[in-house]
Amino acid sequence: MGLNNFPKLSPKQKFSVLDSTARINIWHGAVRSGKTIASLLRFAQWLAETDPKASGVVLLMGYSIDTIMSNVIMPLEEWLGKDIHYNQDLSKVIIFGHKIRCVGSSSEKARGAVKGITCKCIYIDELTEVPKVVLDMLFTRNSSKDAIVFATTNPDSPYHDVYKRFIKNPKDYIHLYHFKLEDNIFLEDWYVQQLKDLYTGMFYQRYILGEWTSMEGCIYPFDESSMTAELYLLPKPYTKVVSIDFGMNNPTSFGLYGITSTYPKIFRERGYYYQANQQLGLGNKTVAMLTDDLFEFIKNEPVSEIYIDPSALPMKEEIRRRLITTKRWIRLIDADNTVLDGIQTQQNMLENGSYVIAKHPTNEQCIKDYSLYVWDNKKQRIGEDRPIKEDDHTKDEERYVLHTKYGALQKKNKNRTMNYDQLTEEY
Ligand SMILES: Nc1ncnc2c1ncn2[C@@H]1O[C@H](COP(=O)(O)OP(=O)(O)OP(=O)(O)O)[C@@H](O)[C@H]1O
Ligand SMILES: [Mg+2]
Repeated sequence: MGLNNFPKLSPKQKFSVLDSTARINIWHGAVRSGKTIASLLRFAQWLAETDPKASGVVLLMGYSIDTIMSNVIMPLEEWLGKDIHYNQDLSKVIIFGHKIRCVGSSSEKARGAVKGITCKCIYIDELTEVPKVVLDMLFTRNSSKDAIVFATTNPDSPYHDVYKRFIKNPKDYIHLYHFKLEDNIFLEDWYVQQLKDLYTGMFYQRYILGEWTSMEGCIYPFDESSMTAELYLLPKPYTKVVSIDFGMNNPTSFGLYGITSTYPKIFRERGYYYQANQQLGLGNKTVAMLTDDLFEFIKNEPVSEIYIDPSALPMKEEIRRRLITTKRWIRLIDADNTVLDGIQTQQNMLENGSYVIAKHPTNEQCIKDYSLYVWDNKKQRIGEDRPIKEDDHTKDEERYVLHTKYGALQKKNKNRTMNYDQLTEEY
């Protein structure tokens, strides 16, 4: 048994490992700032020093079994070697003789899995992702009096339960360790710079500076002079793609996008927007009518892909049928509808100029919606980052194509499986 293979720690990591003897110990702050490495070392130290026969469960909670595997088990395995045993679905994990129960906090089963158990140690990766009911069970009714808790998290809204209960609420039984990206002295400068370039605005404050900030006002700080361009000044696209936000009782938006081999990578060439309006005599359109409009919209255009919200089943089916009958070989792709990650992708691409909108009369709705697309203040107050679900149709439609096609970096980052090679590949 030994902890010899652990890496050397930064001064901040070292302090946190030595000091984290409170009942609740939380490492919070910027991405890649060294929180997990320090907290895992402390967790492993606790496991090595504690008698496995002592009563109580050792609970390991992460967003999903997959993220527990990549964020916790794999680094531990690298350091602990033969002192860790596990099977692939993590139904059986043994570290230094302790049987560890792994639970994905996002799963339906999370609540049942922790109900009624008495824990002696709880390790939580991504504390803010744990649903409130499960947090209540873990920290109030259940085991916190006797259990030691080690948790890591990136910052979220200051209205988030985790912020209100632990971060903003100093108690002698809560020890907090705040990390900024700069605190990780092991990262190379170019990597830190690339991470900084990845986030802008509120996301920069959260993920680079490690601050608990709320999203307010307009979602995208839109600058028409740099984020729109005359069509004739844009490079010639080598292919085109379409993105669709479909609504029966809500507006439907299509965007035709040019894909280039230079900069910008992608631009919205034209748009289509249909909103029923009884006063103007515009009734609801059937799925077939909207699909007619779509095929008219892409007539004579070299379209290779169509991105559509996976929940828009009727329209998807109609398009699929129509593609076959018209013999157009276009890939129909289910868009990734992850809202917050998608917003980061879009914001980043707008800011760094890899996405622009052509000045075209049919893009006016899309440009206008930038000033109307705002965070939902009511949801903010209960700690949820969500846009108001109004005037969001062109924004959803743009996000579908941008995030599904170019959002890999954010997705990987979220799953914490990104390494240097992947990062350089993406650029
Ligand atoms: N003590 C250390 N020695 C060597 N490298 C380290 C050390 N601490 C951190 N690192 C490097 O920094 C990377 C990020 O560290 P870590 O995963 O602990 O960050 P984090 O704050 O948990 O990030 P996230 O918020 O993205 O989960 C590690 O993958 C590793 O490459
Ligand atoms: Mg981490």
